[in-house]
Amino acid sequence: MNMFLIDEETIKQKVKELAQKISKDYENSDNLVVIGVLKGAFIFLADLVRELKIPCKVDFIKVSSYGQSTQSSGIVRIELDTSIDIANSDVLIVEDILDTGLTLKYIKELILSRNPRSLKIAVLLDKVERRKIDISADYVGFVVPDKFLVGYGLDFSENYRNIPYIKELET
Ligand code: IMP
Ligand code: MG
Repeated sequence: MNMFLIDEETIKQKVKELAQKISKDYENSDNLVVIGVLKGAFIFLADLVRELKIPCKVDFIKVSSYGQSTQSSGIVRIELDTSIDIANSDVLIVEDILDTGLTLKYIKELILSRNPRSLKIAVLLDKVERRKIDISADYVGFVVPDKFLVGYGLDFSENYRNIPYIKELET
């Protein structure tokens, strides 16, 4: 059986490509705030912002979704909120993976309620076929199959985040 895998070099190239697009789209912005969704996005965010050719501020938000490790319940609680005032800023939310969409929809609405000048979403991975609600990202690294993936920030019960590539969880 073939295990799904995205290797380091492929990720690196993709992150560069996304950063180029983002740098171009925001070249006239003087107030870009990149908000990483903890914990999963920490590596993607760190690599992405270092490839940006424009200035930005960095902030984080951490939410937890009730329920067990591989399933999102849609009931979301804020564990750590942002600290930068984003009113009149161009906000880019950075997330590891868009799955059912419930988590990002919640975060998107929360950020929108704080009146940013604009709001876009960047995700490294998009599990399109798992979507439960109508939400899409403005920047997508890879559309991935419905398999549980770990590495490059993604975890299973807090393990595997430090694997430098992305792979299917072996069961
Ligand atoms: P959603 O609310 O269903 O879109 O869930 C998004 C969150 O679920 C992501 O931020 C991840 O933390 C987690 N998640 C979804 N799929 C995976 C996966 O394949 N591996 C690791 N975490 C995942
Ligand atoms: Mg997670």
